[in-house]
Amino acid sequence: MVQSDYVFQRVEDRWELERLRMIEKVFDPASRRRLLAAGLQTGWRCLEVGPGAGSIMTWMSEVVGPTGQVVAVDLDPKFLSGAERPNVSVVQADIRTAQLPQQSFDMVHARYVLIHLPDYETALEKMFNSLKPGGWLVLEEPDFSASHGITGNGQELLSFRKVNQAIEQMYTGLKMDYALGLKLPALMQRRGLQRLTVENDVPLCAGGTGLATVMKMSTEQLREKYLATGVVDQSDLERYCRFADDPDTWAIYYATIAVSGRKAGG
Ligand SMILES: C[S@@+](CC[C@H](N)C(=O)[O-])C[C@H]1O[C@@H](n2cnc3c(N)ncnc32)[C@H](O)[C@@H]1O
Repeated sequence: MVQSDYVFQRVEDRWELERLRMIEKVFDPASRRRLLAAGLQTGWRCLEVGPGAGSIMTWMSEVVGPTGQVVAVDLDPKFLSGAERPNVSVVQADIRTAQLPQQSFDMVHARYVLIHLPDYETALEKMFNSLKPGGWLVLEEPDFSASHGITGNGQELLSFRKVNQAIEQMYTGLKMDYALGLKLPALMQRRGLQRLTVENDVPLCAGGTGLATVMKMSTEQLREKYLATGVVDQSDLERYCRFADDPDTWAIYYATIAVSGRKAGG
């Protein structure tokens, strides 16, 4: 395994796979729509960074077909066995140091990967350099500063806020930006990407649905890291998980900022 500060690197595999599959269930429809809107088509050569459980990688390989190709780079591709296809190559590497061909891909995509990197600019540079002139970069990253508990009693809302403070402290302590999504448009603009499309997806969720379930699963996986911030105790975490399960509660857990842009030339 390639070592890094990735916060989910040492969590329990079985629960991590379930969490990644839940992320895919909730977010794949919007990601697919964005990738198609950027022009994904038969014959394209694509780079999927941090494929996780691999649903977007596999779907991309179906869209590009036998004349196209998908290269997937992940620190730890342990959930991708069984996803082998003739037009997919899985590379185990850190995107910041991976040996990638220059000016080679028609599309580069990453979802929820850069937030885990203190030096996300290094990763972005790699991804940008691997794009063909005229190729498309599609990035989707969270903004945890958008989090906001809406309904619930005073104690629940206090624990909700405290868990979000713990999330902020955990990322900040690792020199990662918990609101990185907000910076994506400027980061891409600075590299000269053109025809930028920016979406800020801020779902207001009932407990027991979509993103509430993803965040409950993340909290269970990162329990020790949240406790280590000193901001929350066990009862806050338990209250947060009950809140996220309760269909009578409503909250914004985080926003996803998605930006697509085309590299000049081509
Ligand atoms: C939160 S998961 C997201 C998975 C998938 N993109 C999704 O949205 O369903 C982050 C993924 O990025 C990978 N990852 C984290 N840091 C990475 C790095 N420096 N280089 C390559 N992959 C990395 C992790 O192993 C994991 O598969």
